Amino acid sequence: MSEYVKLEFEGKIYQFPIVTGTEGEKAIDISELRSSTGLITLDPGYANTGSCASSITFMDGEKGILRYRGIPIEQLAEHSSFIETAYLLINGKLPTGEELKQISILFNDHSLVHEDMQIFYQNFPRGAHPMGILSSMANALRSFYPELQTIEEEINITVIRLLSKVRTMAAMSYKISRGHKVVYPRPDYKYPANFLHMMFDTPVKPYEINETLVRALDVFWILHADHEQNCSTSTVRLVGSGRVNLYAAISAGISALWGPLHGGANQAVIDMLKEIQKDGGNHQRAVEKAKDKKDPFRLMGFGHRVYKAYDPRAKLIKKMCDKILKELDISDPLLDLAKELEEVALTDDYFIEKNLYPNVDFYSGIVLRAMGIPTNMFTVMFAIGRLPGWIAQWKESMDDPMWKLGRPRQVYTGPSITDYIPIDQR
Ligand code: CMC
Repeated sequence: MSEYVKLEFEGKIYQFPIVTGTEGEKAIDISELRSSTGLITLDPGYANTGSCASSITFMDGEKGILRYRGIPIEQLAEHSSFIETAYLLINGKLPTGEELKQISILFNDHSLVHEDMQIFYQNFPRGAHPMGILSSMANALRSFYPELQTIEEEINITVIRLLSKVRTMAAMSYKISRGHKVVYPRPDYKYPANFLHMMFDTPVKPYEINETLVRALDVFWILHADHEQNCSTSTVRLVGSGRVNLYAAISAGISALWGPLHGGANQAVIDMLKEIQKDGGNHQRAVEKAKDKKDPFRLMGFGHRVYKAYDPRAKLIKKMCDKILKELDISDPLLDLAKELEEVALTDDYFIEKNLYPNVDFYSGIVLRAMGIPTNMFTVMFAIGRLPGWIAQWKESMDDPMWKLGRPRQVYTGPSITDYIPIDQR
């Protein structure tokens, strides 16, 4: 029997159906709310609003669960590769060996970037943030690679182009920012190895592939591949709802990710740890500052809108961080500081009461530092990882029979009707 929620308003009773997800999550379907009652909902930050039904990613913030297409993130981090995970997210199933081989061939075929695009790169001012550059260049791809004949071909090739070229473009932006010659991908290298090669290979010192770092990068990207309706993904869906092309929607997603409360937190964590280090390592002072209501400072890498338990991605990345630093015999004082800070915060009443735990960004910066990735590229690394999720969510939304142009409402609080005053009477 269908379940309903009753709403009483101005003496009348209205019923709204309950929708139940496969994991038992319940939602009130209010799609008829305004047409039947004249009311809208007010939900700042959409914290209680389900914007869509989706079969891609499941999260349970209270239990610290994350699954892509039903597969626990822990299993994917242990056994899968980023490319296989991307295929899973976008196509809804794990690829066969043959399908994976075909994907690798296509990635190689589409890994180069139009030479004319390099002129764009050369003209960004020195010091321009790589996220701004990447977002502009992702949008520019549409001009260089115009629409294909059939919708299916258009979507399939655009997806491959984006996954392959964004990686090349990210490495290119780093090389150009240093005034170095661009390095192109090698067909014999897999996706993460190729990225490190394009970033760090130079004519005077060929980059030696280190399998520990390659695997760490693969896992870093798997952990970031999707996270259901977060700020940037919702941006991709909202922008995409105007039926804009996929490049433009992804460009908008990259811009949304840039913010320090979202993907920019990985860079902000390292900046914060360096500040604390400069302050003589006084992490207690940082914790007190974060608790002070008059101070806007927040402990970066702590807290999450959905996770009210330890972020499962943070657990995995912390483990990986310890592993690579040990295997490569790297000692990073920022890691020691991060661990001390975490211990202080996790035993502090303020953080306990508000369920503030380290999120994925708390330790990811240390992992990226070990690879030699510069701090201002950290959020770009997140963006490459999040691409499959954005693409999968955009694709799902395009095929959704219930899809509508995104258009929230508001409660207007400005002045009521007011007469215009001519300039000489003001
Ligand atoms: N440090 C200090 N206090 C915090 C923090 C923090 N990092 N995060 C939340 N709080 C407090 C906040 O001040 C508020 O206190 P009160 O109830 O007294 O007003 C309470 O906890 C709830 O905060 P909120 O802002 O309402 O919670 P939210 O769910 O909207 O915020 C968040 C989520 C991620 C924006 C926030 O926790 C934050 O700013 N964290 C730091 C930035 C960060 O690490 N972001 C990366 C998120 S994970 C990557 C991704 O998936 O995007």
